[in-house]
Amino acid sequence: MPSLHRAVPALRRLRLANTAFQQPTFVVKAAARPTCQLRYQHAEAKYEADASTAASGVDHSPQEQPDRPQFKIKPTSESYPNLKRDSRFKEVTADDVKFFKDLLGSDSAVIDGVTQDASEDLEAFNADWMRKYRGQTKIALKPESTEQVSKIMKYCNDNLLAVNPQGGNTGLVGGSVPVFDEIVINLSRMNKIHTFDDVSGVLVADAGVILQQADDHVGAKSHIFPLDLGAKGSCQIGGNVATNAGGLRLLRYGSMHGNVLGIEAVLPDGTILDDLSMLRKNNTGYDLKQLFIGGEGTIGIITKISILCPQRSQAVNVAYFGLESYEKVQQAFREAKKQLGEILSAFELMDRQSQALYKRASGAKLPLEAEHPFYCLIETSGSNTDHDSEKLNNFLEHVMGEEIVTDGVVAQDETQIHSLWACREGISEAGQHFGGVYKYDLSIPLPQLYDLVNETRERFQNNGLMGDTDDFPVLDVIGYGHMGDSNLHLNVATRRYDKQVEKALEPWVYEWVSKRNGSISAEHGLGLAKKEYIGYSRSETMIKVMKQVKGLFDPVSERCLIVAENW
Ligand code: MLT
Ligand code: ZN
Repeated sequence: MPSLHRAVPALRRLRLANTAFQQPTFVVKAAARPTCQLRYQHAEAKYEADASTAASGVDHSPQEQPDRPQFKIKPTSESYPNLKRDSRFKEVTADDVKFFKDLLGSDSAVIDGVTQDASEDLEAFNADWMRKYRGQTKIALKPESTEQVSKIMKYCNDNLLAVNPQGGNTGLVGGSVPVFDEIVINLSRMNKIHTFDDVSGVLVADAGVILQQADDHVGAKSHIFPLDLGAKGSCQIGGNVATNAGGLRLLRYGSMHGNVLGIEAVLPDGTILDDLSMLRKNNTGYDLKQLFIGGEGTIGIITKISILCPQRSQAVNVAYFGLESYEKVQQAFREAKKQLGEILSAFELMDRQSQALYKRASGAKLPLEAEHPFYCLIETSGSNTDHDSEKLNNFLEHVMGEEIVTDGVVAQDETQIHSLWACREGISEAGQHFGGVYKYDLSIPLPQLYDLVNETRERFQNNGLMGDTDDFPVLDVIGYGHMGDSNLHLNVATRRYDKQVEKALEPWVYEWVSKRNGSISAEHGLGLAKKEYIGYSRSETMIKVMKQVKGLFDPVSERCLIVAENW
């Protein structure tokens, strides 16, 4: 225990820092949402948050981005010429379009670029938010019921038309957009919340419901959706389940595999698989829904989910620290687990470079005046304010008194909580703000987790690809992520996408991770970006069994997938 005379001044320093903390300039009301926002801009699927949500910092994109380069996204097939369209798949014809229009019953449900020019309208369905991948679909379908999805799938299966399911199109591995001319099946019109029972905490909703909307709905009854992530204003819960999204509070609530109770899905041949169970316990044979959770749409399209939502915590505290080394970050994490125990709901890591890039991209002021090599954000969520404050104070006294933490701030109110979170959530967007970004989402044993960032930075310092002027493709190498889950996000921020940069990173990063028995995709999935590297994380036997599972659900297209261009 630190002695009191050391601990009290430490606490005073924390509070003093707090008064100097300015809210970032980008925490804006929904109505003032900037048009340059990319990730949160997809199609018509944007959820209009109420004023309280708008102030949450979820919409944390910068208001002005004068230095953001505008360039046309190259078609994926040009950037990756080794990808070949499977000629077994038919091209969409005017007759197919007529079938879809008759089926969906409304012109606005079919974005038709087959019988007319609709390239502008189709752009949002073809392009991903990283501006790295761009498909060439000529048609996007927006069904509004499971039966419609089923009929679309049956028709496509019978007629050998390739499809690509799409939720909010906020994915980070190129899985949510087509590669060639696959038909996009966009679920944004399937957006009804069916039931929420605040005794059991079970929510049943359509796949196209936006995450923020689902969270607000259960929040009105003092519950919380067990997933939170920066794109929550645009991403859809069906996509969250299909990609087994991890997010910011996995440490507390666990993964989708543990929280989803049931799903309804449409299989490639149009069969509706109704496993929309609301039971926590059901030990009757294989748990088939688990194959769809994280299956990335390769074996079927999730159309509804039922999910267990925990009670929303009454007392939430957020602290933001500066630390002098990664060793100290690990010590802080150890102490947080020990002293905050059951109330710890997030422990996030950010390096100096990630915060500097965030500051530069957003124009926001950082919470601490001085620079620190590392930062972390700690959140506690509990049911008793006094109890939590006492625990948090003891923890703060300890980490400040023992000089594990160099400086820090604690949020005093909800606005500051959101502003502190914005410093973490805004990094993802900042990474690609200046042109492009190479993103790696890795599980690495904690002691070695940050070594990869150091080695990557060194690699670019030595290979002449990183520098301060436009002559260099690479701007900076940043490391951040979910320390509590041993999940590093290694981002190489670039001024443009460049094959030399990609070659310097791949497969080197994957080899590095594989040697340490990590995973090449902790939470983002394989998508197109990682599919050919799956062997670095899964054995041949496992891949073979996965292919057999794929073949079982989608025999028409056992090798080349009819649902989603994954694996
Ligand atoms: C995050 O945690 O911010 C995202 O998963 C990382 C990313 O956008 O690369
Ligand atoms: Zn993440």
